[in-house]
Amino acid sequence: MSILIHLNQADPLLLESHLKAHSDCPDLRIWPDCGNMDDIDCIIVWKHDPGILNQFANLKLIASYGAGVENILSDPDLPQGVPITRFVDDTLADQMAEYMLAVILNHRLHITYYRELQAASQWRPTEFSHAKNVTILGMGELGSVSAKLLNQNGYTVSGWSRSPKNIEDITSYYGDDQLEDAVKNADYILCLLPLTPQTTNILNKDLFKAAKLGAYLINAGRGDHLNEDDLLEALYNGQLSGATLDVFKSEPLPSDHVFWRHPKIYITPHISSPTDKVQVARQILDNYARMKKGEALINQVDPKRSY
Ligand code: GLV
Repeated sequence: MSILIHLNQADPLLLESHLKAHSDCPDLRIWPDCGNMDDIDCIIVWKHDPGILNQFANLKLIASYGAGVENILSDPDLPQGVPITRFVDDTLADQMAEYMLAVILNHRLHITYYRELQAASQWRPTEFSHAKNVTILGMGELGSVSAKLLNQNGYTVSGWSRSPKNIEDITSYYGDDQLEDAVKNADYILCLLPLTPQTTNILNKDLFKAAKLGAYLINAGRGDHLNEDDLLEALYNGQLSGATLDVFKSEPLPSDHVFWRHPKIYITPHISSPTDKVQVARQILDNYARMKKGEALINQVDPKRSY
């Protein structure tokens, strides 16, 4: 049997070479060169073309190349009953925590701003901001590691999640009732939620109104967490002082999108926590072997929770 690699916006050949480095790697195919489709018992996907997954009669495993699985779960032609796994790994959480710390430091210390002043040969020293209250929406693997790193760096951190979390020195808020309380003292609001029907559009005008005046938003969850018009309005009326966005409704962000030219929006191209090819290759082959032996899979997605 064979594994099919079907990646969009990621390099299938690079993943192929990392998979092939292992002696237990089965036959590999790269979309669209599937060969006999009945040979395929596992597909590795990222931003796959909807409608193709139900064409493989012997499919036994759908492995996400990344942590997010919303593209898989929202595919109307998703074959029912085929287990889905996602990539969960310390490398993702560590990179995300560094990204969050870097964005906050950049904002507090005005680093990028000085680069802009340099372009205009302007010498304009500005005080550091002392704002150090952070609220993280989403306290899964990524959120809790980011919370700890920020706390170690002197930030006062709160987290908001579906259920309460017990992490030393981190204040836990949970459930819809506590969302507004979670953000009311935050200088920085970080979104690291999974995309589910409950979290879609959660970064909206109600949340921005509940937030501390002049709070700064960092979204590294998904583009669909954000109501774009509400963000523009909150930036215009000063409710939010700025935003760094790493994820967008449509990626790559279209070149005519207003966010590119907005003076209070910083854009990074979905780089906050890239999949580590070495780790993902090993994890998928381990799950492939488990699937073959009928054993429990690692990081299997629960479609009811959407992650
Ligand atoms: C990246 O965004 C991922 O879901 O792994």
